[in-house]
Amino acid sequence: MSSASRTPQGKPPVTVTRLREMKENGDPIVMITAFDFPSAQVVDEAGVDMVLVGDSAANTILGYDSTVPVGMDEMVMLTKAVRRGLKTPFLVGDLPFGSYEASDELAIASAQKLVKEAGCNAVKLEGGGTSADRAAAIVKAGIPVVGHVGLTPQTANALGGFKAQGRTAERAIKVAEDAVALDQAGCFAIVFEAVPEAVAAMITKKLDAITIGIGAGNATDAQVLVLFDLIGLNEGFMAKFAKRFADVRGEMRRGVEGYVSEVREGTFPGPEHVYGVDPATLEVLQQRLNREDLESDGTYLSSNQSWDWEPLS
Ligand code: KIV
Repeated sequence: MSSASRTPQGKPPVTVTRLREMKENGDPIVMITAFDFPSAQVVDEAGVDMVLVGDSAANTILGYDSTVPVGMDEMVMLTKAVRRGLKTPFLVGDLPFGSYEASDELAIASAQKLVKEAGCNAVKLEGGGTSADRAAAIVKAGIPVVGHVGLTPQTANALGGFKAQGRTAERAIKVAEDAVALDQAGCFAIVFEAVPEAVAAMITKKLDAITIGIGAGNATDAQVLVLFDLIGLNEGFMAKFAKRFADVRGEMRRGVEGYVSEVREGTFPGPEHVYGVDPATLEVLQQRLNREDLESDGTYLSSNQSWDWEPLS
C-alpha cells in the first residue's frame, strides 16, 4: 500500500474490502455511533473499525423524544463534524426518516448528500420491503448501503413500540425476509437490532452481507452501540442490550459542580490562571481612568499599533 493511501497515523483507512476480509477471517468488527468532532477523535484513537452517525442523534444530541423529527440538514451538520474528527474508521451516515422512503430518486439524492457534503463512505436505511428497493437504487448509484432490520426505531410505532423483534416464528421469518431482501439488494452490511441471539445467528449464516448486532447477541460479524449509552452520558431508559463502560455524565457533573463551587467561594480563578501586567502600565491606565471623559482620544492603540499579546497558555 502506498503512503498516500495511509492515514496520518500510518494506518490504512478501513474500506468495504477490509471489512469483508475481517468477516471472512472471523475477526469481530467494532462499530460505534459518534455525533460530534471530539467524540469522533476519541473513537478513532480507541481503534474502532466503523463509525455510524446514527439518527439516534435525535435523542442523544438534539433532545427530541424519538428519531422521527431529525432532518437531513441536522444529520449533515453532525456527520460533517464527525468526518473532521476521523482518520481511519469507515464512516456510515444514517438516512433520517422521510429522506428516502418516497422514491428511488429521493433516496439517491439524500444518499449523495451524505456522501458529497458530509464525506460518508456509506449510508444506512431502515426496514425491508420498499426500503430494499431504495437500497438497490442507492447501490446502483455507486454508494455502499447498510440495511437495518428487527427493531427499526423510525417505524417503532408500526412494530408495537420499542420491543425485541423476532421472538415468534412469524416475526422471526419477517426479520429473515427483510434481511434477505436487503442482502439481495446489495447491502454490504445489515444491522440487527433487538433480535434474539439464536435468530440473528441463523439468519447471519444465510447472508452474504456483514451482520452488525445491537441487542442481537454474539453471532453477528460486528457489534454496534450508541456511544453515549456505553460511556454513560445519557440518562433515563437504557435498553437491556446497552452496557455502560464508563460514567461520563457523573464525571461531567463533578467537573461542573467543582467549577460552580469554586466561583461561588472565590477560589477560581487562582493566581495560576491570571495574566500579569507591568506596574508602569497600570500607572498609565489609572491616570486615564482618573479622567472624567473615558472616550478614546486616539492616544493609545491607534489602528497601526500592534497588540503586545501574552501567550494564552
Ligand atoms: O441510530 C442509531 O444509532 C442506530 C444504531 C442503533 C444502529 O441506528
